[in-house]
Amino acid sequence: MDLVASLRLALAESFAFYFKAHSFHWNVRGPLFQQFHDLFGGLYEDVHGAVDDLAERIRTLDALAPASLEEIMSGATILFSPVPPAMEMVMQLIAANDILIAAFTAANDVAIADGQDGIANFLQERLDVHAKWGWKLKATLADDTAV
Ligand SMILES: [Fe+2]
Repeated sequence: MDLVASLRLALAESFAFYFKAHSFHWNVRGPLFQQFHDLFGGLYEDVHGAVDDLAERIRTLDALAPASLEEIMSGATILFSPVPPAMEMVMQLIAANDILIAAFTAANDVAIADGQDGIANFLQERLDVHAKWGWKLKATLADDTAV
């Protein structure tokens, strides 16, 4: 897969992740509503910013950014479901975050191979951000009596 295709896949997974987190921000219910509403809000705002950055990196490579919802979602593997319970939302976001990390890692490998240091740097920063989101989501599920 070339760099543009790798970035388009990272964009598709990011857009799917963004929408999932935003939908969960709207639809979460339960006694911890405010905590989850805020966590999912931070997630969708962060990933929405990355969607813009990814599309603009594609333009710097003289390729066109997606022009339709079908196109921006093309190739995305993050799954959608009817509104789940809050903790299931967190589990779905952990799985989606792992998919995003895999897509960004693959794109970073191609960027390095192509000598595109600026794009590689951006992708590595996103990998660091998603490692932190993974920690926060997993910590939400963890039993606080465990070590
Ligand atoms: Fe909101």
